Formats: sequence, structure tokens, C-alpha cells
Amino acid sequence: MKIGSLELSMPFVQAPLAGYTDYPMRKLARRFGCPLTFTGMMLDQFALHAKAIRQEKFHPADDEHPVVAQIVGHDPATLARAAAVFEGLGYDMIDLNFACPVPKVLRRQRGGFLMQKPDLIRQALRQTRDAVRCPVLMKIRIGFDRSAAAEEDFWTICEIAAAEGVDMLAVHGRTVGQKYRGPADWTRIGQIKQRFATLTVFGSGDIFDAQTAVERLDCSGIDGIVIARGAVGNPWLFDELLARTQGRPSPPPPTLAAQGEVILEHFQMCCRMRTGRRAVAYFRKFLPGYTRRHPDRKATMLTLLAAQRPEDLTSAVKTAYGLQTASGTKHNPSQIF
Ligand SMILES: Cc1cc2nc3c(=O)[nH]c(=O)nc-3n(C[C@H](O)[C@H](O)[C@H](O)COP(=O)(O)O)c2cc1C
Repeated sequence: MKIGSLELSMPFVQAPLAGYTDYPMRKLARRFGCPLTFTGMMLDQFALHAKAIRQEKFHPADDEHPVVAQIVGHDPATLARAAAVFEGLGYDMIDLNFACPVPKVLRRQRGGFLMQKPDLIRQALRQTRDAVRCPVLMKIRIGFDRSAAAEEDFWTICEIAAAEGVDMLAVHGRTVGQKYRGPADWTRIGQIKQRFATLTVFGSGDIFDAQTAVERLDCSGIDGIVIARGAVGNPWLFDELLARTQGRPSPPPPTLAAQGEVILEHFQMCCRMRTGRRAVAYFRKFLPGYTRRHPDRKATMLTLLAAQRPEDLTSAVKTAYGLQTASGTKHNPSQIF
């Protein structure tokens, strides 16, 4: 399948996750076969401040293409200008966020708030398409809430996406009002593709394993799946999905040592973006996901969560994942501590 002119090796991609899908998580997802990754949402106004946009976190790295810049904002003209700036920084595609349910974002009339403003979405899409050459995607939810008016707005927005020729419509199968409560509605996601056959529709919600991802794709008739929380601390999910897509047997689960190496690699990449205890604090959010495969999960997670300094976390990972023998280091991938 294709997004714009980009051929994807499989229809499973890494979803945008603010605070998670920075370069290290994107890079690992890619290494395990993920064909497309997204940044977390970035406020359009940052792109218009020369000093802010110089920060490394806003720039794609050379070794992670194709990568999508996701932008959130309120004003169509500002979104479009920001899109042009992000394209200029080297991002391969632009994704407009009309899905975020965070109260602060809604109060500022951004993200999911715009599910109530189809006309603003139309203008944002049009102006963004005019401002960039790369593919333009959009992320929505299945409505602002469960009201009849919200449902009408939802279908109008899908119609706009089709009419304006967005290159991918990613849909989280919950309403904005639901936030993350209740199951995602995959029937509604499938109905979009039934009504708008030419739209490239990707679905999102509650995909935590390869089997469910494949089933959702097959049953809904949509084009692809964006994987969000299920990929946190679990880049191996993409490896398994790629094998299934290519008709190969599922790869064996990663050994304990292989898991430890990936955890350390991820942490070391984080240490290049933040230093000392701040890097450890940032990385903690990945540990529940990573330790899920450990045979002594709870104790391992608690031990790793208790580490305060980078060297403590590194040595705790090595011990828990058998990367260190009594006589010293058994395996030591590009050590920086
Ligand atoms: C912590 C967190 C951060 C998220 N950040 C973003 C974001 O920046 N942009 C976006 O479009 N969706 C964001 N999402 C929504 C996800 O991309 C996804 O649509 C949603 O989590 C449903 O998928 P899941 O149930 O598989 O996690 C976020 C979700 C979570 C839990």
C-alpha cells in the first residue's frame, strides 16, 4: 500500500504518542520493521519561533526516514505555515491533529475541539496542502461526543478528508469525550472505508498484539493500523507484524539478553537527549512495557523504577537481564557509562 508516493512494507505503523515517540522510540520501531513513524504532536506556534525550532527535538534525524511531523493548532493559516517549516526541516509528511482530548488543548480550541468545526478542518487541510509538497495526513476521533450533532460533524469531516484528498485519514475509535475510556469502536472505523472507498483509512485503538492487529485489519476492511500504547516498550511487535505480512513464521520471542540490550540501547539514546537523573526520570515510562516480557516482571519493574542515576539503571538492567556475570560484563553494547 502507498501513502502519497511512499510504498509501505506493511500496513502497520507507529502512532504518534506525545512524550513517547521521540527519536529513540521511533528509531527502534523502525529497526524492528516499522515502515512509518510519527512524532508526538507539536504545537504549530513553535515552528514559527526561530529560536524554539532550533531545538534538536523538533528535527528529524538522518537515519529515521520516512517520519511524519504531527502538528496541533487552532488557526488554519498558522497550521499551514508550521507545516511548511516542518517540511523544510526534513519531515516526509505532515499530520494534522484533530483528535487530542487533553483539557488544556481543548480549552485552547485545538486538537479534538476541532471535531466540532468541520469548516475550520477544511480550511486547515486546504491551506496546508497549498503550503507543502509532501503528503498531508490527518488524525481524528469518531466524533466529539455521542450526540447526533457530533455524528453529523464526524461524517462531514470524513467527507472533507475525501474531497480534499488527504493522503491518510487516521481514526482513533473513541470520541473526544471518551478520552481513553471504553473499547475503541472498530465498526465505526470500518464504516468510513465503506462510505469513502478512495480514502486511505488507518484505524487506532486497543491494539496490543499482532493477532489483534491482523484481525482488526481483516475485519474492518480499512487500509492500515496505527499502533500506539501497544508499541511502548515493545518494538518486537513490528518484527512480528512484518513476518506475518510477508507470510513468514512469527519470529521467536526475544531472549532475556536481547530484551536487555534493547532496553539499554533505548535508554542510551535517551541519555543523549537528556542527562543524569532527568534521563532516568524520562525513561521510567517505558519500563512497564519493557518488563512485561520478564519472567519476574513485578520485582524487575520495581527494581528498575527505583534506580535514580543512569549508572544505577544501567547496572540494574544488566543484572535483571543476565547481561553481566559475576566476573564482569558479559555483553556490552556501545556502553556510555
Ligand atoms: C500517552 C499518549 C499520548 C498520545 N499522544 C498523541 C499525540 O501526540 N497525537 C495523536 O494523534 N495521538 C496521540 N495519542 C493517541 C494515540 O495515537 C492512539 O490513537 C490512542 O492511544 C489509541 O490507540 P491505543 O488504544 O492502541 O493506545 C496519545 C495516546 C497516549 C496514551
